[in-house]
Amino acid sequence: MANLSTTYMGLKLKNPIIVSSSGLTNSVKDIITLEEKGAAAIVTKSLFEEEIILETEENLNKMHASGFVYPETTEYFDFDRMEDTVSNYLKFLSDSKKSVKIPIIASINCVTAEGWTDFTKRIEDTGVDGLELNVFNLPVNFNDPNSSNDKVYLDIVEKITKVSKLPLSLKIGFYHSNLGYFIKHLSQSPTKAIVLFNRFYNPDFDIHTLHFNSSYVLSNPAEGANTLRWVAIMANRVSCDLSASTGIHDGTAVIKQLLAGAKTVQLCSTLYKNGNDQIGIMLNELEKWMNENDYNTIDEFRGKMSQSKTFDPKVFERVQFMKYLRNRD
Ligand SMILES: Cc1cc2nc3c(=O)[nH]c(=O)nc-3n(C[C@H](O)[C@H](O)[C@H](O)COP(=O)(O)O)c2cc1C
Repeated sequence: MANLSTTYMGLKLKNPIIVSSSGLTNSVKDIITLEEKGAAAIVTKSLFEEEIILETEENLNKMHASGFVYPETTEYFDFDRMEDTVSNYLKFLSDSKKSVKIPIIASINCVTAEGWTDFTKRIEDTGVDGLELNVFNLPVNFNDPNSSNDKVYLDIVEKITKVSKLPLSLKIGFYHSNLGYFIKHLSQSPTKAIVLFNRFYNPDFDIHTLHFNSSYVLSNPAEGANTLRWVAIMANRVSCDLSASTGIHDGTAVIKQLLAGAKTVQLCSTLYKNGNDQIGIMLNELEKWMNENDYNTIDEFRGKMSQSKTFDPKVFERVQFMKYLRNRD
């Protein structure tokens, strides 16, 4: 009987399938259902850095009104009224944690290391098991040749690990000038895991109305290839766990990511498209494949197809289609 359990950022998981941060993980009710359907852990819908900072400003505003601070201290802030998003989110985290047995990983979407990192302590106080940070700035500084977004990741990790002991993971994109170096460097920080990769919202527009809209919101299975390449290249080269994300739609894709070296996989689009029963279908495929190949545990085959272990390491660095096109003529 195959044992599907694994560990991830210091947590024990009953299998490698995590439901990634999205509208699927935005309510206690949905999280309970996802646990029933077999998910091993949940990354909750993200709270945004801006929301945390706005709440801090609101608090300052109240303090200002009570004469607690000088007006100059707060002149920088915009005092627009906002919903109580932050306290609702904290309540949602603690309610989720109480309602299921599987680990709950909170999520924050952020772009800077300023003004919000102390808030992590309040997330930790809800009892959740970990924190995933979705950090990204599109690299569009046209004037500074040395401009690098990379430092902000390390600054954030440093600040957060000073105020909180929550296991931390970083969900990153692939727009980094030396991606391999960046991932390796990041893995040597106190982060416990790196999620490869976030999938971005992309703008599109209508050629008739010239109105903007969104490009495809959900991924397709072909998008998993980029994740597979980088998980395979980085596995055994990093000092933390890797979680594969983007384009993982079926059991075969899960098996591939584990063979490449991932500790866990994260699902989003496939659940939007196929419903939550897809989790069980994918787990059955993984278990069947392990039984057919006489694997008792995931560790027996994890990373077998990573770049450092495979018989053909060069394949992961091949990027041109030259031979394929010649053969077609
Ligand atoms: C509707 C929707 C909402 C999402 N919301 C978040 C979010 O709040 N925070 C986050 O880190 N990622 C968010 N994501 C990204 C997903 O967590 C995931 O990284 C991405 O969709 C790639 O995985 P997939 O190919 O399985 O869809 C969202 C994705 C979708 C489609």
